[in-house]
Amino acid sequence: MQIIETVEAMKAQVAAWKSEGLTVGLVPTMGSLHEGHESLMDAARAACDKVVASVFVNPIQFGPDEDYDAYPRDIERDAAICERHGVDAVFHPSVEEMYGPAYNTYVVMETLTDALCGASRPGHFRGVCTVVTKLFNIVQPDRAFFGQKDAQQLAIIKRMVADLNMNVKVVGCPIVREDDGLAKSSRNVYLSPEERQAALVLSRAIRAGEEAVRGGERDAAVVKALMTGIIEAEPAARIDYVEVVDGATMQPTDRIGESALAALAVYIGTTRLIDNFLYEEG
Ligand code: PAJ
Repeated sequence: MQIIETVEAMKAQVAAWKSEGLTVGLVPTMGSLHEGHESLMDAARAACDKVVASVFVNPIQFGPDEDYDAYPRDIERDAAICERHGVDAVFHPSVEEMYGPAYNTYVVMETLTDALCGASRPGHFRGVCTVVTKLFNIVQPDRAFFGQKDAQQLAIIKRMVADLNMNVKVVGCPIVREDDGLAKSSRNVYLSPEERQAALVLSRAIRAGEEAVRGGERDAAVVKALMTGIIEAEPAARIDYVEVVDGATMQPTDRIGESALAALAVYIGTTRLIDNFLYEEG
Protein backbone atom coordinates (compact mmCIF):
# COMPACT_ATOMS: atom_id res chain seq x y z
CA MET A 1 0.00 0.00 0.00
CA GLN A 2 1.25 3.47 -0.86
CA ILE A 3 0.89 6.68 1.14
CA ILE A 4 0.62 9.56 -1.32
CA GLU A 5 1.09 13.14 -0.14
CA THR A 6 0.88 15.23 -3.32
CA VAL A 7 -1.97 15.93 -5.71
CA GLU A 8 0.32 15.34 -8.67
CA ALA A 9 1.41 11.87 -7.50
CA MET A 10 -2.18 10.91 -6.68
CA LYS A 11 -3.37 11.98 -10.13
CA ALA A 12 -0.52 10.07 -11.79
CA GLN A 13 -1.37 6.86 -9.90
CA VAL A 14 -5.05 7.12 -10.81
CA ALA A 15 -4.16 7.80 -14.47
CA ALA A 16 -2.00 4.65 -14.51
CA TRP A 17 -4.84 2.55 -13.06
CA LYS A 18 -7.38 4.00 -15.48
CA SER A 19 -5.11 3.31 -18.45
CA GLU A 20 -5.30 -0.37 -17.46
CA GLY A 21 -9.10 -0.13 -17.40
CA LEU A 22 -9.32 -0.50 -13.61
CA THR A 23 -12.16 1.03 -11.57
CA VAL A 24 -11.37 3.25 -8.59
CA GLY A 25 -13.26 3.60 -5.29
CA LEU A 26 -12.73 6.52 -2.92
CA VAL A 27 -13.35 6.60 0.84
CA PRO A 28 -12.96 10.20 2.09
CA THR A 29 -12.08 10.43 5.80
CA MET A 30 -10.50 12.74 8.34
CA GLY A 31 -8.57 9.83 9.85
CA SER A 32 -8.75 8.59 13.46
CA LEU A 33 -10.22 5.56 11.77
CA HIS A 34 -12.70 3.19 13.40
CA GLU A 35 -15.06 0.40 12.32
CA GLY A 36 -17.40 2.93 10.68
CA HIS A 37 -14.65 3.97 8.27
CA GLU A 38 -13.57 0.34 7.89
CA SER A 39 -17.06 -0.63 6.71
CA LEU A 40 -16.74 1.95 3.92
CA MET A 41 -13.32 0.57 2.91
CA ASP A 42 -14.75 -2.96 2.86
CA ALA A 43 -17.64 -1.82 0.66
CA ALA A 44 -15.19 -0.07 -1.68
CA ARG A 45 -12.92 -3.13 -1.75
CA ALA A 46 -15.85 -5.33 -2.75
CA ALA A 47 -17.05 -2.98 -5.52
CA CYS A 48 -13.88 -1.55 -7.11
CA ASP A 49 -10.55 -2.74 -8.53
CA LYS A 50 -8.52 -0.10 -6.68
CA VAL A 51 -9.35 1.63 -3.42
CA VAL A 52 -8.12 5.04 -2.30
CA ALA A 53 -8.78 6.23 1.26
CA SER A 54 -8.13 9.91 1.88
CA VAL A 55 -7.02 10.99 5.34
CA PHE A 56 -7.22 14.77 5.61
CA VAL A 57 -8.46 16.88 8.51
CA ASN A 58 -10.08 19.58 6.43
CA PRO A 59 -9.59 22.94 8.17
CA ILE A 60 -12.27 24.79 6.19
CA GLN A 61 -15.13 22.63 7.49
CA PHE A 62 -14.40 23.52 11.14
CA GLY A 63 -15.81 26.66 12.77
CA PRO A 64 -13.50 28.98 14.74
CA ASP A 65 -14.64 27.55 18.08
CA GLU A 66 -14.59 23.92 16.96
CA ASP A 67 -12.08 21.12 17.53
CA TYR A 68 -9.80 21.46 14.46
CA ASP A 69 -6.60 21.64 16.54
CA ALA A 70 -7.69 18.94 18.98
CA TYR A 71 -9.00 16.56 16.29
CA PRO A 72 -7.16 13.25 16.80
CA ARG A 73 -4.41 12.57 14.22
CA ASP A 74 -2.33 9.38 13.92
CA ILE A 75 -1.42 8.60 10.31
CA GLU A 76 0.65 5.51 11.16
CA ARG A 77 -2.24 3.87 12.98
CA ASP A 78 -4.65 4.94 10.22
CA ALA A 79 -2.35 3.59 7.48
CA ALA A 80 -2.12 0.21 9.24
CA ILE A 81 -5.93 0.02 9.38
CA CYS A 82 -6.19 0.94 5.69
CA GLU A 83 -3.66 -1.72 4.77
CA ARG A 84 -5.56 -4.39 6.73
CA HIS A 85 -8.71 -3.48 4.78
CA GLY A 86 -7.14 -3.81 1.37
CA VAL A 87 -6.72 -0.12 0.56
CA ASP A 88 -4.30 0.41 -2.35
CA ALA A 89 -3.37 4.02 -1.65
CA VAL A 90 -3.85 6.42 1.25
CA PHE A 91 -4.08 10.02 0.04
CA HIS A 92 -2.71 12.14 2.89
CA PRO A 93 -1.99 15.68 1.68
CA SER A 94 -0.89 18.59 3.85
CA VAL A 95 -3.14 21.61 4.31
CA GLU A 96 -0.74 23.63 2.11
CA GLU A 97 -1.00 21.01 -0.64
CA MET A 98 -4.81 21.32 -0.68
CA TYR A 99 -5.16 25.04 0.02
CA GLY A 100 -2.27 27.11 -1.29
CA PRO A 101 -1.83 30.76 -0.29
CA ALA A 102 -3.85 31.99 -3.31
CA TYR A 103 -6.72 29.55 -2.70
CA ASN A 104 -10.03 31.27 -3.55
CA THR A 105 -12.74 28.83 -4.75
CA TYR A 106 -15.56 27.24 -2.74
CA VAL A 107 -18.58 25.07 -3.48
CA VAL A 108 -21.70 26.45 -1.81
CA MET A 109 -25.08 24.69 -1.73
CA GLU A 110 -28.41 26.40 -1.16
CA THR A 111 -31.29 25.13 1.03
CA LEU A 112 -30.18 21.55 1.74
CA THR A 113 -27.45 22.92 3.97
CA ASP A 114 -29.74 25.23 5.98
CA ALA A 115 -31.18 22.79 8.51
CA LEU A 116 -29.71 20.42 11.10
CA CYS A 117 -25.89 20.51 11.26
CA GLY A 118 -25.84 23.29 8.64
CA ALA A 119 -27.82 25.55 11.00
CA SER A 120 -25.58 24.95 14.01
CA ARG A 121 -22.29 24.81 12.07
CA PRO A 122 -22.29 27.79 9.65
CA GLY A 123 -19.90 27.21 6.75
CA HIS A 124 -19.41 23.54 7.62
CA PHE A 125 -20.99 22.12 4.47
CA ARG A 126 -19.27 24.74 2.29
CA GLY A 127 -16.02 23.23 3.58
CA VAL A 128 -17.27 19.67 3.05
CA CYS A 129 -18.57 20.30 -0.50
CA THR A 130 -15.36 22.07 -1.44
CA VAL A 131 -12.99 19.39 -0.17
CA VAL A 132 -15.09 16.54 -1.55
CA THR A 133 -15.18 18.23 -4.98
CA LYS A 134 -11.39 18.57 -4.85
CA LEU A 135 -10.99 14.92 -3.82
CA PHE A 136 -13.31 13.83 -6.65
CA ASN A 137 -11.28 15.89 -9.14
CA ILE A 138 -7.96 14.52 -7.87
CA VAL A 139 -8.94 10.84 -7.53
CA GLN A 140 -11.60 10.69 -10.31
CA PRO A 141 -13.33 7.80 -8.52
CA ASP A 142 -15.96 5.63 -10.21
CA ARG A 143 -17.60 5.22 -6.81
CA ALA A 144 -17.28 7.15 -3.54
CA PHE A 145 -18.40 5.76 -0.19
CA PHE A 146 -20.05 7.77 2.59
CA GLY A 147 -21.70 6.77 5.89
CA GLN A 148 -25.34 7.24 6.79
CA LYS A 149 -23.97 8.35 10.20
CA ASP A 150 -23.62 11.81 8.61
CA ALA A 151 -27.03 11.65 6.94
CA GLN A 152 -27.20 15.30 5.90
CA GLN A 153 -23.66 15.15 4.49
CA LEU A 154 -24.61 12.09 2.41
CA ALA A 155 -27.76 13.80 1.08
CA ILE A 156 -25.76 16.93 0.24
CA ILE A 157 -23.02 15.03 -1.59
CA LYS A 158 -25.63 13.12 -3.63
CA ARG A 159 -27.33 16.44 -4.53
CA MET A 160 -24.00 18.08 -5.44
CA VAL A 161 -22.98 15.17 -7.69
CA ALA A 162 -26.35 15.27 -9.48
CA ASP A 163 -26.48 19.08 -9.75
CA LEU A 164 -22.92 19.48 -11.04
CA ASN A 165 -23.01 16.37 -13.27
CA MET A 166 -20.04 14.80 -11.52
CA ASN A 167 -18.96 11.48 -12.90
CA VAL A 168 -19.10 9.43 -9.71
CA LYS A 169 -21.60 7.10 -8.09
CA VAL A 170 -22.16 7.99 -4.43
CA VAL A 171 -22.71 4.90 -2.27
CA GLY A 172 -24.30 5.27 1.18
CA CYS A 173 -23.37 2.75 3.88
CA PRO A 174 -25.23 1.93 7.14
CA ILE A 175 -24.29 3.32 10.57
CA VAL A 176 -21.85 1.11 12.49
CA ARG A 177 -22.47 1.09 16.26
CA GLU A 178 -20.72 -0.09 19.41
CA ASP A 179 -22.31 -3.17 21.02
CA ASP A 180 -24.25 -0.92 23.40
CA GLY A 181 -25.68 1.19 20.56
CA LEU A 182 -23.42 4.28 20.54
CA ALA A 183 -22.68 5.24 16.92
CA LYS A 184 -18.94 4.91 16.25
CA SER A 185 -17.26 8.30 15.93
CA SER A 186 -13.75 9.69 15.96
CA ARG A 187 -15.01 12.12 18.61
CA ASN A 188 -15.97 9.32 21.06
CA VAL A 189 -12.34 9.38 22.31
CA TYR A 190 -13.06 12.77 23.90
CA LEU A 191 -15.58 11.19 26.31
CA SER A 192 -14.70 10.43 29.94
CA PRO A 193 -16.01 7.04 31.21
CA GLU A 194 -19.02 8.81 32.80
CA GLU A 195 -19.70 10.76 29.60
CA ARG A 196 -19.35 7.58 27.52
CA GLN A 197 -22.19 6.10 29.62
CA ALA A 198 -24.29 9.28 29.32
CA ALA A 199 -23.74 9.31 25.51
CA LEU A 200 -25.94 6.20 25.24
CA VAL A 201 -28.88 8.57 25.49
CA LEU A 202 -28.44 9.44 21.78
CA SER A 203 -28.96 5.93 20.46
CA ARG A 204 -31.69 5.33 23.06
CA ALA A 205 -33.61 8.34 21.76
CA ILE A 206 -33.05 7.32 18.14
CA ARG A 207 -34.25 3.78 18.85
CA ALA A 208 -37.38 5.03 20.62
CA GLY A 209 -38.16 7.40 17.74
CA GLU A 210 -37.62 4.68 15.19
CA GLU A 211 -39.86 2.23 17.06
CA ALA A 212 -42.62 4.84 17.24
CA VAL A 213 -42.45 5.54 13.49
CA ARG A 214 -42.27 1.87 12.59
CA GLY A 215 -45.26 1.37 14.93
CA GLY A 216 -47.27 3.81 12.81
CA GLU A 217 -46.72 7.23 14.42
CA ARG A 218 -46.84 9.84 11.64
CA ASP A 219 -46.91 13.08 13.62
CA ALA A 220 -43.37 14.48 13.48
CA ALA A 221 -43.96 16.62 16.60
CA VAL A 222 -44.87 13.54 18.64
CA VAL A 223 -41.71 11.71 17.53
CA LYS A 224 -39.60 14.79 18.19
CA ALA A 225 -41.10 15.23 21.68
CA LEU A 226 -40.48 11.58 22.50
CA MET A 227 -36.81 11.81 21.55
CA THR A 228 -36.36 15.20 23.23
CA GLY A 229 -37.83 13.88 26.49
CA ILE A 230 -35.36 10.98 26.57
CA ILE A 231 -32.37 13.29 26.02
CA GLU A 232 -33.58 15.84 28.57
CA ALA A 233 -33.76 13.11 31.23
CA GLU A 234 -29.95 12.76 31.01
CA PRO A 235 -28.34 15.55 33.09
CA ALA A 236 -24.98 15.37 31.23
CA ALA A 237 -26.67 15.95 27.85
CA ARG A 238 -27.39 19.32 26.24
CA ILE A 239 -29.45 19.36 23.04
CA ASP A 240 -28.07 21.17 19.99
CA TYR A 241 -31.02 20.01 17.87
CA VAL A 242 -33.58 17.22 17.63
CA GLU A 243 -35.39 17.33 14.30
CA VAL A 244 -37.64 15.31 12.02
CA VAL A 245 -37.11 16.41 8.42
CA ASP A 246 -38.08 15.25 4.95
CA GLY A 247 -35.57 12.58 3.94
CA ALA A 248 -34.91 14.15 0.53
CA THR A 249 -35.09 17.92 1.13
CA MET A 250 -33.89 18.02 4.78
CA GLN A 251 -36.64 20.59 5.46
CA PRO A 252 -38.76 20.28 8.64
CA THR A 253 -41.97 18.34 8.14
CA ASP A 254 -45.20 17.98 10.18
CA ARG A 255 -46.30 14.62 8.82
CA ILE A 256 -43.95 11.71 8.27
CA GLY A 257 -44.42 10.70 4.65
CA GLU A 258 -42.54 8.42 2.26
CA SER A 259 -39.15 9.30 3.62
CA ALA A 260 -38.17 11.05 6.84
CA LEU A 261 -34.95 11.61 8.69
CA ALA A 262 -34.98 11.90 12.47
CA ALA A 263 -31.67 13.43 13.44
CA LEU A 264 -30.14 14.83 16.58
CA ALA A 265 -26.99 16.55 17.76
CA VAL A 266 -26.29 16.54 21.48
CA TYR A 267 -23.43 17.85 23.58
CA ILE A 268 -22.16 15.42 26.20
CA GLY A 269 -19.96 17.71 28.24
CA THR A 270 -18.09 19.64 25.55
CA THR A 271 -18.27 16.85 22.94
CA ARG A 272 -20.87 17.24 20.21
CA LEU A 273 -22.24 13.90 18.98
CA ILE A 274 -24.78 13.13 16.26
CA ASP A 275 -27.08 10.22 15.46
CA ASN A 276 -30.08 9.61 13.20
CA PHE A 277 -32.44 7.19 11.61
CA LEU A 278 -33.79 7.29 8.12
CA TYR A 279 -37.33 6.03 7.64
CA GLU A 280 -38.33 4.96 4.15
CA GLU A 281 -41.81 3.65 3.48
CA GLY A 282 -42.18 0.11 2.19
P1 PAJ B 1 -15.17 11.51 8.92
O1 PAJ B 1 -15.94 12.06 10.07
O2 PAJ B 1 -13.80 10.97 9.15
O3 PAJ B 1 -16.05 10.39 8.27
C1 PAJ B 1 -15.65 9.79 7.07
C2 PAJ B 1 -16.78 8.91 6.59
O4 PAJ B 1 -17.01 7.87 7.54
C3 PAJ B 1 -18.10 9.68 6.42
O5 PAJ B 1 -18.73 9.29 5.21
C4 PAJ B 1 -18.89 9.24 7.64
O6 PAJ B 1 -20.30 9.27 7.45
C5 PAJ B 1 -18.41 7.80 7.80
N1 PAJ B 1 -18.66 7.31 9.17
C6 PAJ B 1 -18.25 7.88 10.33
N2 PAJ B 1 -18.72 7.19 11.38
C7 PAJ B 1 -19.46 6.17 10.88
C8 PAJ B 1 -20.24 5.12 11.45
N3 PAJ B 1 -20.34 4.95 12.76
N4 PAJ B 1 -20.85 4.25 10.61
C9 PAJ B 1 -20.76 4.40 9.26
N5 PAJ B 1 -20.07 5.38 8.65
C10 PAJ B 1 -19.42 6.25 9.45
O7 PAJ B 1 -17.22 12.91 7.24
C11 PAJ B 1 -16.06 13.30 7.19
O8 PAJ B 1 -15.00 12.66 7.78
C12 PAJ B 1 -15.66 14.54 6.40
O9 PAJ B 1 -16.71 15.47 6.44
C13 PAJ B 1 -15.25 14.24 4.94
C14 PAJ B 1 -16.41 13.65 4.13
C15 PAJ B 1 -14.04 13.30 4.90
C16 PAJ B 1 -14.83 15.58 4.27
O10 PAJ B 1 -13.79 16.17 4.94
